[in-house]
Amino acid sequence: MTISSQNFHKTSVPILYINEDVLLRPLKIEDIHQNYIDSLNHPHVRKYLAAHTGSQYTRKNVTQFVLENDEDRSAILFGFFVRGKHSGTCRLHDITQNCAWLGLAIFDISLWGQGWGNKIITTVSNYALLQLNIEQIRAAIDPLNIGSKSAFTKSGFHILPDEKLEREDGVLTDIWQRRGDPGYLWNSN
Ligand SMILES: CC(C)(COP(=O)(O)OP(=O)(O)OC[C@H]1O[C@@H](n2cnc3c(N)ncnc32)[C@H](O)[C@@H]1OP(=O)(O)O)[C@@H](O)C(=O)NCCC(=O)NCCS
Repeated sequence: MTISSQNFHKTSVPILYINEDVLLRPLKIEDIHQNYIDSLNHPHVRKYLAAHTGSQYTRKNVTQFVLENDEDRSAILFGFFVRGKHSGTCRLHDITQNCAWLGLAIFDISLWGQGWGNKIITTVSNYALLQLNIEQIRAAIDPLNIGSKSAFTKSGFHILPDEKLEREDGVLTDIWQRRGDPGYLWNSN
């Protein structure tokens, strides 16, 4: 199976299981809850987010974000569910045959530092590389985001030293990449 932004059918996106209690699946409008919105506004969670523009997250703009991603044929917004509780998101966006961008946030801070970031990144990038046959996955990471750099490194990403991306708020982020080289793929779930 190969995809392009023209023929990519999101209805076929499967549930991605990390284990029997923890999974990723496309986020739906019904999944929006106050805790999701409040968590996005938590200073630790929002600090390094690419979409961070300084303004507050509200039910209205979060709903719009979920709807836009649902309708966008070149994006998949996964919800991260732990024993049924929506605890984060992982988004593939600007998907083409050559490249997809990956961003994630775990809303439940009590889950940080337990390897979930690594498992989410590995699971979603494995899906994109192995099932969608996208050639490379990229992520824009603030150089100060130690936890993110560590989680992406453990998932097989490396920094592209000659490339930078300017975020909406002017912050210059590093670009990290994982390629779909068969010799480089593994399943560390
Ligand atoms: C970045 C984020 C996804 C990392 O998730 P996580 O579940 O904490 O990551 P992991 O537990 O898989 O971390 C991997 C490693 O980094 C370490 N680590 C995590 N956070 C760290 C921190 N703040 N400082 C130092 N090391 C850290 C972990 O201990 C782990 O190392 P170990 O396996 O040797 O113990 C999570 O912190 C988050 O959602 N942050 C807010 C949003 C965000 O910054 N998103 C990324 C945008 S690119």
